[in-house]
Amino acid sequence: PSLDEIVNLHDFEAVAKAILPAKAWAYYSSASDDEITIRENRAAYQRIWFRPRILRDVSTVDWSTTILGQKSSLPVYISATALGKLGHPDGELNLTRAAGKHGVIQMIPTLASCSFDEIVDAAVPGQVQFLQLYVNRDREITKRYVQHAEKRGVKGLFITVDAPQLGRREKDMRMKFVDESGVAKVQENQGGVKKDEGVARAISSFIDPSLSWKDIPWFKSITNMPIILKGVATPQDALMAYDYGVAGIVLSNHGGRQLDTARSGIENLIEVVEALKTRGPWPNPQFEVFVDGGIRRASDVLKAIALGAKAVGVGRAFMYSFCAYGQEGVEKAFQIFRDELQMNMRLIGARTIDELTPDMVDASAIHSH
Ligand code: FNR
Repeated sequence: PSLDEIVNLHDFEAVAKAILPAKAWAYYSSASDDEITIRENRAAYQRIWFRPRILRDVSTVDWSTTILGQKSSLPVYISATALGKLGHPDGELNLTRAAGKHGVIQMIPTLASCSFDEIVDAAVPGQVQFLQLYVNRDREITKRYVQHAEKRGVKGLFITVDAPQLGRREKDMRMKFVDESGVAKVQENQGGVKKDEGVARAISSFIDPSLSWKDIPWFKSITNMPIILKGVATPQDALMAYDYGVAGIVLSNHGGRQLDTARSGIENLIEVVEALKTRGPWPNPQFEVFVDGGIRRASDVLKAIALGAKAVGVGRAFMYSFCAYGQEGVEKAFQIFRDELQMNMRLIGARTIDELTPDMVDASAIHSH
């Protein structure tokens, strides 16, 4: 289909599935074990219902916001997804260029298939980028990488904490074969590549499973970028993150690719916000909570924000949009979000992101799986 025929974000997935080589589709679409969590990520949003308000003069609505103090035209950022060149020759640069044109924030993956500098060089002046970090067993490599990113103007460091070992994505593992062009940059930046257990495992052998809370002060000592822990799943860890003085957390299960039957980020959000309220007034401008996993509609975005998320991350939907249509696909995905945000905010009765409040949703069925 032509781009004009794309109506919603699900459409990009259908096109990507039809056109991608089998091993790229297996790597992108797979989740761990029985793929229960990836399905739950969508299902959880369908257990939350709106309680719309009426007669509020919604002639103009504004969905722009800030994320870690940085302006964002959407309450959505592009979450890190590895190996963009498996799906499109320009890889991650499709995201960078579209994001620069539309004021959206991109999180650059450690396992990008373009080099870090290529991705930063493709940004327009003033464009905000974050960095997703997998921590190397060799901390000198990590230190150099983080400090280089800060020098190049990256505005936030998202340390992935839900992947001491990569999950078993069985669709991907059955492929075995590794695309050399896709992984070359990873090998160059981070060392060792193993080639007999699928793409994910091939590129992840450098990741340090000994990472612990004790390392957090070290990260704070090597960078002034705000540090966010990506992959928090419980109120206990949310409070520890807060007490360790990081700038925020992402409630995430890595798009269902790590611990299978882990709960969804949106389900965890409710408990996490309750826990954080014990530390002081909420929302807390010093500590932002983000959610990702399964977001395909503006209504999902608005539910997460109403329940306390500062913004949400989207992985696969943007990735599939560039696999299918390159940069223009990503721009169309932003347009779909804008159209859906306008309509849904009007129908809910929220003129701004700040007007989204917990009483606008009914999450009472969230725990009934
Ligand atoms: C990811 N994700 C991810 N996360 C991370 O911290 N480092 C990484 O290298 C990757 N790589 C990656 C590759 C692919 C193909 C996918 C689908 C996902 C997880 C990503 O940042 C995010 O948490 C999820 O993608 C969110 O779920 P949705 O939006 O894909 O449903």
